[in-house]
Amino acid sequence: MRTVAVIGAGQMGAGIAQVSAAAGYHVLLSDIDLTRAEAGKSGIAKQLDRQVEKAKISRDDADALLGRIQPVADYAPMAAADLIIEAATEREEIKRKIFENVGKVLGAEAVLASNTSSIPITRLAQASPDPARFIGVHFFNPVPVMGLIEVIRGLATSQETVAKIEQYGAALGKRLVFANDAPGFIVNRVLMPMLNEACFALGEGVATIADIDAACQLGLNHPMGPLTLADFIGLDTCLEITNVLFTSTGDPKFRPAPLLVKYVEAGWLGRKTKRGFYDYTGDVPVPTR
Ligand code: CAA
Repeated sequence: MRTVAVIGAGQMGAGIAQVSAAAGYHVLLSDIDLTRAEAGKSGIAKQLDRQVEKAKISRDDADALLGRIQPVADYAPMAAADLIIEAATEREEIKRKIFENVGKVLGAEAVLASNTSSIPITRLAQASPDPARFIGVHFFNPVPVMGLIEVIRGLATSQETVAKIEQYGAALGKRLVFANDAPGFIVNRVLMPMLNEACFALGEGVATIADIDAACQLGLNHPMGPLTLADFIGLDTCLEITNVLFTSTGDPKFRPAPLLVKYVEAGWLGRKTKRGFYDYTGDVPVPTR
């Protein structure tokens, strides 16, 4: 495997492009237009500058890594890719359209993968030209830091496809875990109920935002408290995944907390809107309750 294409140059796509290039792959990076793909590459350059300043990577290695990332305006160059990873907006109709379009240039041996955090792989595979060569590869944010890739087999995913992803994951130095195509896979099945429960606890007045977060951070040794993490992931994403768990299982234990719903309705989506459970307009995040 030599060439990896990444569709979507946002936070996840850029992270996937960065770690793939760091592993020595030639990377094609696309978004809705070339400007956005180039902006994704500029973001990676900034990340690498910080790593160079901290002497975590040499200037030469950073430049070589960047040189392996090629922003592209459309899917045509992806005909040469061995692996195409979609990391676009988490909306099924957008992803299906991408698979239909990129499917037209997909090489005869190439694998098509989705970084979806919650949409069933078996269903998405129906929009690809060959469900046997379709698979879920779920990365975690921030991609360069997090050591895990969740691999999700659809019903039709072949063993050969799984083996190719095993080889790719090993090259990236990530630990792979394998999940069946069940709602939320592994991580979000376990994580989202915890974040949702923190929202219930806040809504019911159990404790303040700062104390709920400190309790879990220090009492459980988590790097971030649940409300900080929910803001980091995006409250809209948390709600969307929780709704997938709730509607696809019908189990009331997954029902979204009313406060989480309200925050999303208010447009308070976390860090990306500078307001979630914390206010991010100043130098340090300030709890809002
Ligand atoms: N990109 C690249 N590197 C980053 C980064 C980013 N966005 N953010 C932080 N880093 C690096 C820093 O450069 C630093 O690297 P060095 O040790 O080499 O200097 C290292 O990470 C630690 O960063 P900081 O010292 O700035 O901050 P920290 O120690 O507080 O760590 C954190 C920050 C890594 C984000 C940590 O708080 C953490 O692990 N939080 C939990 C993250 C998490 O749970 N992610 C999964 C979310 S769920 C998901 O993604 C999937 C889904 O489907 C919703």
